[in-house]
Amino acid sequence: MARRGGGKGRGGKGNTWGSGDAFNRKAKDKGFAARSVFKLEELDKRFKLLRPGDRVLDLGACPGSWSQYALRRVGRGGLLVSVDLQPISVSLPGAVVLQEDVFALEPEALAEHTEGRAPPFDAVISDMAPATTGVPFRDHVASVELCDRALGLASRMLVPGGVFVCKVFQGEDEPELRNRIRARFSTLKSLKPKGTRSRSVEIFLVGLGYSGEPRD
Ligand SMILES: C[S@@+](CC[C@H](N)C(=O)[O-])C[C@H]1O[C@@H](n2cnc3c(N)ncnc32)[C@H](O)[C@@H]1O
Repeated sequence: MARRGGGKGRGGKGNTWGSGDAFNRKAKDKGFAARSVFKLEELDKRFKLLRPGDRVLDLGACPGSWSQYALRRVGRGGLLVSVDLQPISVSLPGAVVLQEDVFALEPEALAEHTEGRAPPFDAVISDMAPATTGVPFRDHVASVELCDRALGLASRMLVPGGVFVCKVFQGEDEPELRNRIRARFSTLKSLKPKGTRSRSVEIFLVGLGYSGEPRD
């Protein structure tokens, strides 16, 4: 299901990422849908991920704060495609908003929805998280699967030199995931942004300088 722009109001059910702390208040004051925005802001400031005119694919975009931030950064000359299983109700003027499972997402369909403007993308950013089960290893594995799907899509749709971000719940499969990113990008970085809760197991992996699928 695709639509352009998005409506007004706050995001979908189950996406209030904590409440009552300084990050939540600050996000709300600045008109962002979630505190997660400060994580992307920190990643962007640190690694210079987004530029005016960029085409950005935001995976796991609901309730929409990363998309709101990305839209501001890429400006009118850029393009944002936001994808989530859940409906995104925050206003994203000019963006292409898709309610879809990333495992069903295909580059050809994106080309259709964007009227041929993308792919390719300059940036593929994923803040996707699985529905947690309370079993840390299971949640870790599901998170790595989402990262691998995001990486697979990025590998098919990024421009040479493009950037990639994914959020992973840390665990024993993380080193292999890092290797898979490292094999496709000139540089791999990681960051636990300040906006991340101290007890959280999440970390962001960043691939800079997409260099193509590795040769066997
Ligand atoms: C932490 S939230 C994203 C917050 C968002 N970056 C923001 O700033 O508002 C994680 C999102 O990943 C989405 N997600 C998880 N699995 C997905 C899948 N298979 N396809 C698409 N979205 C998925 C969830 O629906 C959820 O909205």
